[in-house]
Amino acid sequence: MAQAPPNLPGVALVGCGSSTPAQRVINDELGQRVETSDAWIQTRTGIRERKVVAKGETVNDLSYRAAESALQMAGWDAETVDLVLLATSTPDDLFGSAPQIQAMLGASKAVAFDLTAACSGFLFALVTASQFLRTGSIKRALVIGADQLSRWVDWDDRRSCVLFGDGAGAVAIESTNSNQNGLLAFDLKSDGKRGGCLNLPQRRDYLDLVTGKTHQKGGYSTIEMNGQEVYKFAVREVPSILDNLLKVNNIKPECLDWLLLHQANQRILDAVADRFKLPREKVLSNLESYGNTSAATIPLMLDEAVRDGRVQSGHLIASSGFGAGLSWGAALFKWHGPS
Ligand code: UT7
Repeated sequence: MAQAPPNLPGVALVGCGSSTPAQRVINDELGQRVETSDAWIQTRTGIRERKVVAKGETVNDLSYRAAESALQMAGWDAETVDLVLLATSTPDDLFGSAPQIQAMLGASKAVAFDLTAACSGFLFALVTASQFLRTGSIKRALVIGADQLSRWVDWDDRRSCVLFGDGAGAVAIESTNSNQNGLLAFDLKSDGKRGGCLNLPQRRDYLDLVTGKTHQKGGYSTIEMNGQEVYKFAVREVPSILDNLLKVNNIKPECLDWLLLHQANQRILDAVADRFKLPREKVLSNLESYGNTSAATIPLMLDEAVRDGRVQSGHLIASSGFGAGLSWGAALFKWHGPS
């Protein structure tokens, strides 16, 4: 649990951007592959279509476009960025993709690295980057959430394949006066003991190395998910972590302008909103168009709502991410927008 300590530099969210692949896959098309229907998927999840990376496009491309839009909205020169932090579970390069994105952006003075916390990744990265700003060690950061889960989905498993899509979102944050701090509070949690209900495990393939010795061949399996367990986890832990954050910070739910949750299932969004008696108009949702894009959902949704004018400067947003690990987190922040 963390409340903003006084007299440290504050954090302002001054830009955002997003990018999704052009290729759309609608529910009926999935029905060509697995035994499912548009009606089942819409009723149980709220999803109508998802965007899937086609040949030639990469997580780096999506991330670059999202980050470039955030840079433009913020009005920053790429050379002034101090940190590029990429939250992803599906990097193009296991050694880290953030430096490649840093190079594509021309952010040559920035340090760049990846962070993995599955669907909670963006919130974990936002909080991590903010700590550098709050200690005064850097001034500007680009926080990107991007995933291409379509690489790792078992497209023959109807219990999971209907949920996921690809995308990227980014936020530009910069240090500001402590009295203008926009990241009011956060809380992050992990519970590896419960991690078995959502995994993307490595394969256990071994090859001969030299006489009598073997080595493991790198590679991953496909997403393995117990949907009901993840659902129960989400509807229990998300209200709990948000409730605690609101209470500790003396904020009543009705004071929130927006609820911005990880976009996993419309029923989860509705259940959390009901818990806080929030009207549906205050719940940001775009999963009908994208499905669950993992680390990208929160910045992708934020970008859409900022650009269409729903989220305005000074609006108070309660956000929560949750997913594999298990990991979950929540943050209360104010959208600042470009100066
Ligand atoms: O970032 C976190 C990522 N994961 C999640 O957020 C997942 C959270 N969980 C969920 O969203 C839901 O549990 C699902 C959408 C995955 C599943 O919905 P559900 O209401 O929990 O369905 P269920 O697993 O209880 O399955 C109900 C029935 C089963 O049939 P029977 O056994 O009752 O005959 C399933 O076989 O629905 C069947 N089913 C399907 N039918 C048509 C499961 N998937 C499908 C499908 N199309 N795609």
